[in-house]
Amino acid sequence: MKRTLASLDPARLDGQRALVRVDFNCPVKDGVVADDTRIRASLPTISYLRAKGARVVLLSHFGRPKGGPDPKYSIRPCVRALETALGAPVTFIEDPLAEAAVITTKRLPRGGVALVENTRFYPGEETNDAGLSQQFAALGDFYVNDAFGSAHRAHASTAGVAHVLKPAVSGFLMERELKYLGEALAHPKRPFVAVLGGAKISGKIDLIDALLPKVDEILIGGAMANTFFRAMGLETGNSLVEADKVDLARALLDRAGPKLVLPKGVVIAPELREGITSLTVRRDAVPPGFSIFDIDPTTVEDFSRRITGAGTVIWNGPMGVFETKPFDQGTRAIAAAMAAATARGAITVIGGGDSAAAITQAGLADKVTHVSTGGGASLEFLEEKVLPGVAALDDV
Ligand code: 3PG
Repeated sequence: MKRTLASLDPARLDGQRALVRVDFNCPVKDGVVADDTRIRASLPTISYLRAKGARVVLLSHFGRPKGGPDPKYSIRPCVRALETALGAPVTFIEDPLAEAAVITTKRLPRGGVALVENTRFYPGEETNDAGLSQQFAALGDFYVNDAFGSAHRAHASTAGVAHVLKPAVSGFLMERELKYLGEALAHPKRPFVAVLGGAKISGKIDLIDALLPKVDEILIGGAMANTFFRAMGLETGNSLVEADKVDLARALLDRAGPKLVLPKGVVIAPELREGITSLTVRRDAVPPGFSIFDIDPTTVEDFSRRITGAGTVIWNGPMGVFETKPFDQGTRAIAAAMAAATARGAITVIGGGDSAAAITQAGLADKVTHVSTGGGASLEFLEEKVLPGVAALDDV
């Protein structure tokens, strides 16, 4: 168990500088944050600290800049988005390594908020450099990690700093993520069903391995299913198949037996194009020249029945190419089944990334138990890998 923000004496936060690692790695279009979900998800922690009189200094990476500062990856657009979300001004700290940065943090009013430029602009962030960790640590009096989305990275701002700035505690979002994902895995209400999709089986092997002994069923959709179809000797036409993973898929099918549930039928088309006329066929009737782009209504019915009959459901990865209509139908239907399962009392957890985007697009994000803000992080958590950003925090 990790020490939490709630465990710190609120009276002692007054006037202290809280150095908070958040994950503001949000999509930005034309210099404006296009989806502020991650910013809003960090508001409970930021608002709590402000209400207790703390000076809040936020650290986050933004995108994947290579080789130092690059205006394209400036975190500035998040300043405006955070100001809007908070309804309060936010100070921008352009150079956290300058002496002036420390002074700025000390001069913040009680309840004031500052956001530091992209942590990945500074050499040593991604190598978890001790010197950079010390420099980040100088910006606060204690450390809060609320960046679940970055917890799988052992970086200076997520891990190194937590070893030098104490206390080092989890924020409310981090706590919530660990609670829901952790409880689903450790104490699932049964039946426990995992729904896995996405393009590649290669990115999900560790997840399937970790989940197989725990779950009652794994429902497979997305292009990932194609590699299993090929392993079963089925015609897959021009569908995306990982040829070098076919043997592995065969081994998984043998090992998992009836726990692994594949689509009965698929939606196909000669090419991937918005609005193209599609066909629905059984999985053993895919003609050459066609590609599989979604699960079919029979599969939707089958998967939905299993999901709504479950006690716990974890969903990671879309069922089809949901960005391109009409191949969004399978994913949308699974989102609806997740909401229906929740209404019937199931615990439903959505891994971050594409499935989080899909449930949000379907307008059902508030109809499930938990939507994770972490893509890679939720995957690694479910694979039971150690998350360095969590491991570095103080133990209770
Ligand atoms: C994410 O978007 O999944 C996190 O912010 C982590 O980003 P990264 O994969 O660039 O480390």
